[in-house]
This record gives sequence, structure tokens and C-alpha cells, in this order.
Amino acid sequence: MIIAANFKSNLTLQKIKNYFSVLDSFVNGNDDVYVFPPFFAMQEKAKNFHIGVQNAYCEFNGAFSGEITLESLNDFGIKNILIGHSERRNIFGENQELCARKFDFFAQNNFSIFYCIGESLETRKKGKSAIEDFLSSQFDRIDVDYEKLIVAYEPVWAIGTGVSAKIEEIEETHNFLRTLTKRPLLYGGSVQLQNISDILKIKNVDGALIGSASLDVENFKKMIEVARGKK
Ligand code: PGA
Repeated sequence: MIIAANFKSNLTLQKIKNYFSVLDSFVNGNDDVYVFPPFFAMQEKAKNFHIGVQNAYCEFNGAFSGEITLESLNDFGIKNILIGHSERRNIFGENQELCARKFDFFAQNNFSIFYCIGESLETRKKGKSAIEDFLSSQFDRIDVDYEKLIVAYEPVWAIGTGVSAKIEEIEETHNFLRTLTKRPLLYGGSVQLQNISDILKIKNVDGALIGSASLDVENFKKMIEVARGKK
């Protein structure tokens, strides 16, 4: 099971330092844990879990004001990245073409890529084939066989709302995604301590990407505990 935390734009450097030291002594070699803190915490180190970046631009360095590029990530030894998160797509206007360019660049540089996809409520309401067409379109120009690809299915309407997708909805969608790629499939969108056990039991769910519920380290530790012993 892969358990990943996306802090988004939360916490302070001091809080993250404390969080990392508590988490690092809790996680062990059998866990597969990733944490994506804001960029200012990139220089923090962990022995037992992986640190990744939530976003970066697909160049080595250059005139890209406000962006982080490969040279800085190399400096911090970061080899994990989220690409295509719905907040990047919807708030910052990243289109599929940019997501695919980022994917190619970071794949060429041997990053583990957590590639996020997910439909809006409007699409969900249109039914199965609309959902499948939409999700397929989010794989345009994406190498679904890339050996360091991890897919995160995060329905936009379930992110940060406290209302996760239903078990049957996750199951049906992950079964479809399994026909598109053999790589690990995470579910994300209001995963909490109360529902993580049921979510991780679903066929073709290989882990979870957790936002709000990961911000408290004690809560996140309990979620990792639930993941232990599953599959
Ligand atoms: P959430 O966020 O757990 O707060 O819904 C998940 C995500 O956006 O990765």
C-alpha cells in the first residue's frame, strides 16, 4: 500500500520539522509513505519516508518567475513529484498539454510521478461513459507504462469536501483505470481515518493520497497503521 500526504499550502516550517521528526520515527521499512510539503520545506530530510514536490516547471532552470525547476529539486535530492493535481488544473489553468510536457520531462529525469486525474461533479452526473471518456482524455500523451508512474484518481467533487466517493464509485472507476494502466492506482478525495480501511480494501486500490486528514501527524500515523497489513 502506498500512503501519500499532500500538505498543499498549509503548515509552517517549524510545524513541518516537528511533523517530519515524529513521522520518521514512526514509519518503518515496510511502509511506503510519501509526503508532499510546500516547497519551502524541501530541504528537510527523512530516512523512512519519501519527500516530494507538489508542482514544478519542466525546465532545468531559466526565466520562469515564481516556478521551481529541476536544478533546485536536484539540489534538494527530490525525486518525487505530483503532476496534474486538480488544483493545478482548475485554479492555475494547467491544461493537458502542459501536464503531458511536465510528465515527459520528469519521466526523462527519472522521477516517481504521482499523476493525478479526476472528473468534476458535472461529468460524474453524466454517467459512466462520460466519466470514462473524460478520464481517458487526462491520459492524452501520458506514458501509462512509465515504470515510476503512480496514478492518483481524485474526483474533484470529493477533494476537500469531507465527502469521499462511494465505495462502488471508487471500485467501478478503478476497475476502468486498471484497463488503462498496470501501474499502482491510488484513491484521493476526503480520505479520512474513518473511511480509509474500507477504501484500501477495494480491488484495484493500491493506496491513498490524503490532503486535509494528513495535516495532523497523529491522525496520519493512525492512517498508516490501518494501511499496514493490507495487501
Ligand atoms: P483531501 O485532498 O484529502 O483534503 O480531500 C486530497 C488531495 O487533494 O490530494
